[in-house]
Amino acid sequence: MLNLIQLTSDKDDYSFFEWLDTQELLFMWTGDIFSWPIRPADLMTYVNRIRKKELVSLNFYNSSGVLVGHCDIDNISERHKRGEMTRVVILPQFRNSGIGQQMVSEVVKFTFEKLNLHRLELKVFDFNKNAIRCYEKVGFNIEGLLKDFLYDRGKFWNLYVMSMINNVTT
Ligand SMILES: CC(C)(COP(=O)(O)OP(=O)(O)OC[C@H]1O[C@@H](n2cnc3c(N)ncnc32)[C@H](O)[C@@H]1OP(=O)(O)O)[C@@H](O)C(=O)NCCC(=O)NCCS
Repeated sequence: MLNLIQLTSDKDDYSFFEWLDTQELLFMWTGDIFSWPIRPADLMTYVNRIRKKELVSLNFYNSSGVLVGHCDIDNISERHKRGEMTRVVILPQFRNSGIGQQMVSEVVKFTFEKLNLHRLELKVFDFNKNAIRCYEKVGFNIEGLLKDFLYDRGKFWNLYVMSMINNVTT
């Protein structure tokens, strides 16, 4: 069981940024809003958006109180009842042991039950096999491939769009 804390201010725990310690990992985590190395101005923009409640930012702690995961729900449309799960990351030494699936399940529950959204979507690089497997095991389905969607380090990158629909809502 993971304990979920929603970030609301610049005083919150942002130590998950320390896990994003290579250019490749940072790119895999966010794709676009941060470039390597992370610029303080970009960090400030991100935290300000959290303070202004423009996105929902969630930290997850295990039963020992260790921060083991983080993710955001961004691009929320109240009108269309949808949001995008993004910037998903698990503490490096806890990866590939099922924590990601636990966390993503909690995010889905939070999105459908607390935010009352109908659709949760995400984008994931086509090469990120453990992330895709993690999302599929929680119940996300691949909807399509965005070809050459991002350009970075002299190369175009493909992303899958995945989604989960809350069948309880109308
Ligand atoms: C992606 C991430 C969040 C997933 O969390 P996690 O805790 O590692 O995921 P889980 O252990 O719950 O699930 C991963 C699954 O992928 C499987 N897997 C691992 N490597 C794989 C591979 N190369 N091919 C296919 N499946 C693979 C694991 O065995 C596991 O499946 P299982 O439960 O059937 O054994 C985490 O690895 C992470 O933080 N990665 C770096 C940042 C990142 O890529 N974020 C995603 C942005 S979209």
